[in-house]
Amino acid sequence: MVRRLIMKRRYGSRLRSLPDRTYEVMRMSNPIFTNWTQDLTDKWAKAPLKATHRLHEHPLFSFDALADLIDRYPREHYALVQMGPQGSPRRTWREGDIGGLKGAAVIDSIRNGRMWLNLRNVGAVDARYRELLDAAFEEVARNVPGYDTYARTNGILISSPNAQVYYHTDLPGQSLWQLHGRKRVFVYPNTPPFLTDEQLENIALFEVEVDMRYEPAYDQHAQVFEIGGGEMLHWPLNAPHRVENLDCLNVSMTTEYWTEAIRRSQMINMANGILRYKAGVTPKSRVTKGLGFWTKAALQAGVKRAGLLKKERKARRPIEFKLDPVHPGAIIDFQQAAE
Ligand SMILES: [Fe+2]
Repeated sequence: MVRRLIMKRRYGSRLRSLPDRTYEVMRMSNPIFTNWTQDLTDKWAKAPLKATHRLHEHPLFSFDALADLIDRYPREHYALVQMGPQGSPRRTWREGDIGGLKGAAVIDSIRNGRMWLNLRNVGAVDARYRELLDAAFEEVARNVPGYDTYARTNGILISSPNAQVYYHTDLPGQSLWQLHGRKRVFVYPNTPPFLTDEQLENIALFEVEVDMRYEPAYDQHAQVFEIGGGEMLHWPLNAPHRVENLDCLNVSMTTEYWTEAIRRSQMINMANGILRYKAGVTPKSRVTKGLGFWTKAALQAGVKRAGLLKKERKARRPIEFKLDPVHPGAIIDFQQAAE
């Protein structure tokens, strides 16, 4: 009863009608991972893996709570992206605005359209999401000794039936938590030809992760996972991946974090990129300790401090459309509207 009162205070009046079981899953003392095994401990960050969790049952991830979150979500922290049809070779990537729609209507639009909404940093906007993120990674550290993470962030991705996320890689450590709907995730080796040092340097310097070369033949080397609510994926650092939603609305949480090893790897990406693109030297080493490493660490820190990389980064994409308030799933194109 006391717990119920505390939860009510924390989560608000919307939760008044929730059954006891829901309060039970909200307890932070309950593990977030539901079936941790020694195999997961052995494989964590070394191989792509699937684990199970209980976040999909958490009231913070109900559609009501998500609609409420969208209602108060700061503009600068979200991206709404329209995608091309599945299977089309041409990449479409246009950014839009929710156009003042209420959260529930935004979700309805996504359910009927072909787009995704990325609430990029929910932990910064609402501390309750941050608490869950921290709890999840404290559990990982308890299960995988020495796997200490910091600068963790989490985002919520709401995406249309059959939407896709193109082949790309991410620089921080990453995991994908499925909350609602189902998707197919292709995870590729983090070695050439799937990923080269030059590509990593490019992404570190110029933030062009969605422009990576992809060949359909790569799929023969991918590990393919189909995940639904209550399942999560983790993969080795920088492993390229792409995602195809099944024919249903999808809600996922993405988590990013750094470890000391990942931080050093990123410093090497930056330093080797500077050598390659600024000094015309082909870097030979990705060693992350010793004098060579610290020389590169100083090089990239100096260039960053001097602000020399800022102009290289891609300009923010223009906002090209807004959601149509009358026809859920349709968009209003700013260019066409102006003609
Ligand atoms: Fe990713």
